[in-house]
Amino acid sequence: MSLSISLTINGDARTIVLEDPRVTLLDLLRERLQLTGTKKGCDRGQCGACTVLVDGRRINSCLTLAMTVDGAHVTTIEGLATGDELHPVQAAFLDCDGLQCGYCTPGQIMSAVGLIAEGQAVGDPERVRELMSGNICRCGAYKGITEAVLAAMEKDATIFKERDAA
Ligand code: FES
Ligand code: FES
Repeated sequence: MSLSISLTINGDARTIVLEDPRVTLLDLLRERLQLTGTKKGCDRGQCGACTVLVDGRRINSCLTLAMTVDGAHVTTIEGLATGDELHPVQAAFLDCDGLQCGYCTPGQIMSAVGLIAEGQAVGDPERVRELMSGNICRCGAYKGITEAVLAAMEKDATIFKERDAA
């Protein structure tokens, strides 16, 4: 049984026919749409490598059936930069050396973008670590990752403060 879903992916409206209704959002993104920036680590909800934003909230795309997000806005790592300009979280990861092998990095960055949007944990490294604990990095880049998330949060908070003062 095939079915058709409509998604906005990184700002582009797409109508997609699913031949198999059991396809996950992760497989749809990677195999069908060639958006391979989202990584498949465990494929069972344990590592966070597949994290994307659905309607602004971070989710594990390996645990999400594509058909259940019909009508949603999906953002992947490919949708963060504006032209040549990196998203502030991407820039912070580079500045703080928050990546080693880099395999978990797209999921870490998407999780950080979601976390910052949630408005939680500003300036609190312990809370950042706790709230990012669903994203596993196996090569020990945590120090840089935490610093990057805090730096991006601070920048974000400054932007809001300046905007509110204007
Ligand atoms: S690939 Fe989805 S959580 Fe590991
Ligand atoms: S940077 Fe995450 S596993 Fe290496």
